[in-house]
Amino acid sequence: MENIESKCGKIKEELETRLANVSDLKTLEEVRIEFFGKSGKITLLVGDIRNVPNEQKKKYGELTNATKEYAIAYFDDKKAVLDHLALVAEQQNSTAYDMSVPSKKKVGSLHPVTIVANEFSEIFKSMGFIVEQGNEIETEYNNFEALRIGKDHPARDMQDTFYLEDGRVLVTHTSSAQNRIYKQYGAPVRAIFPGRSYRNEDVDATHDVSFFQLEGILVDENITVANLLYFMKSVFSKAFGREIEVRLRPYFFPFTEPSFEVDVKCIYCGDTPCKVCKETTWIELAGCGMIHPEVLEMGGIDSKKYRGFAFGMGLTRFATLKYGIKDIRELHNLNFLKQFGLK
Ligand code: DAH
Repeated sequence: MENIESKCGKIKEELETRLANVSDLKTLEEVRIEFFGKSGKITLLVGDIRNVPNEQKKKYGELTNATKEYAIAYFDDKKAVLDHLALVAEQQNSTAYDMSVPSKKKVGSLHPVTIVANEFSEIFKSMGFIVEQGNEIETEYNNFEALRIGKDHPARDMQDTFYLEDGRVLVTHTSSAQNRIYKQYGAPVRAIFPGRSYRNEDVDATHDVSFFQLEGILVDENITVANLLYFMKSVFSKAFGREIEVRLRPYFFPFTEPSFEVDVKCIYCGDTPCKVCKETTWIELAGCGMIHPEVLEMGGIDSKKYRGFAFGMGLTRFATLKYGIKDIRELHNLNFLKQFGLK
């Protein structure tokens, strides 16, 4: 019996050595026949039980079968490795996987909102602004109180604001980042912060529960409404690529004083009033105003020394205007968005 134990050990060792030198499936097949074929070493070893005396058959069977199982598992492992290598080699040789062949398909496209956000970011950067990012989840303080939006302000209504269980909110406007920016950078500061805003609205062609805005602040000494008007005119002229007529219309926002809405002369009208501007020849594009001194103070900025203006524009709205997209819901439609593929 001792004899058979060492015999099993020797066959295992032999198989291991043989397989170690095999690097292709053809040689592997030769090894298979050599060990597992009709007169293969393992087959003969197991079959030899016939010649073993009866009282030793049980032990012999156990030992040789264990050897066979071990050998099969060892062989299968090697086969799996070689199969995989063969597949990789095949893929590398086939044109379908040739990484050096230039792609015929365009793989993706920038979203129209991303396109306009990038364009505005470049414009503002050229005017010395840093591009920052606000949070999408904010404290009520930053979204409301730090902007002088009191507890009973209609904007806080449950209808409009998504409240989280912990009392924080999904930001209802990008103005919510103002306080953090003031505290982080102090004055003077010029920053824009494009981002996503959320409002609990019924969705239709012109409203969505989430949309993109771009907020900006400029704080320095001696800043006036004249600077604001000139600034808005420059920004929109750059954005549309030509001189644009701009007007400030008095409005109300709790965080600015005075506050305005910014209209640009309709770029679609030509000689006759058009539908885009509802035949008014003006299109409203942003809200803005001189930052309320209390808002500056809440951000740790000395409002006696510094003044500034803030503005917030609808990036989603701008994108739909720029590309003539009639229904805001198209902005979620991948088939529709394909056309904005990189040229
Ligand atoms: N946060 C305002 C909104 O979502 C937009 C806005 C208006 C931002 C005036 C401003 C501003 O910074 O000065 O409707």
